[in-house]
Amino acid sequence: MNVLLQPSILFLDETQSTNTLLKEKLQSEKLPPFFTISTAFQSSGRGQRGNGWNSQKGKNLLFSTVIYPTNIAPNKQFILSQIVALSIVDVLEEYNKGFEIKWPNDIYYREKKICGILIENILNNDKIDYSIIGIGLNINQSKFRKNLPNPISLCQITGQTYNINEILQGVLQNLSKYCNNLNRDKIAEINTKYRKILFHGDGYYFYADSKSTFKAKIIDIEPNGTLILQRTNGTLSRYLFKEVKFLFEQSHLGTF
Ligand code: BTN
Repeated sequence: MNVLLQPSILFLDETQSTNTLLKEKLQSEKLPPFFTISTAFQSSGRGQRGNGWNSQKGKNLLFSTVIYPTNIAPNKQFILSQIVALSIVDVLEEYNKGFEIKWPNDIYYREKKICGILIENILNNDKIDYSIIGIGLNINQSKFRKNLPNPISLCQITGQTYNINEILQGVLQNLSKYCNNLNRDKIAEINTKYRKILFHGDGYYFYADSKSTFKAKIIDIEPNGTLILQRTNGTLSRYLFKEVKFLFEQSHLGTF
């Protein structure tokens, strides 16, 4: 699908949102796979479900890149979330162990969020024309605003500071490798790896949907991203993104 030789990276001191800027650019010009916009600060960083993304200037990795997964059917697009999350975890694991992927594609360390991913797939004639992959990875920020749910950074975990650009290069290299694996039909391998580091991947935990709070375990994730939970009484429930909340033991606060 994509080849990564020397990715073109546009570094900006500040922008509204790298996803927004990349989307605007793609509307007016053709850009090569892995064309990337990275910034030190976003004035209107965007998160999932219309939330914002907050990050202290110059401390974290904030970037968006484009891929052209034209051979992935829109109803199988969850594989893109999987490879993006794995590309990041593979880099983080060079520095520390214990990172997990919280369905569908947040990266967690011990019930705290270190990375958020915003993938925007642009469809054309029932095909994915291109995907804008936006990543906010907390690296060197040591203090977060109190009203943020449960953030953590790599430096808070290890006590070290990191070269943000080096981490960016690593994530892009990995993403290119996983895109090639998609081409080589290694989807089963990707699924196995994703399942292995899935947050709450094994055993029963508390969840909440629009009707109740319940204990359940993750049984499966379908190629379109539907999460299948089995309750303690054996009942199976299927959830799309945003339809179920993970309840954390530690704080008793829910987070989607
Ligand atoms: C989430 O809500 O978890 C997703 C957050 C995604 C944030 C990144 S930061 C770089 C890129 N530009 C944005 O505006 N959002 C994404």
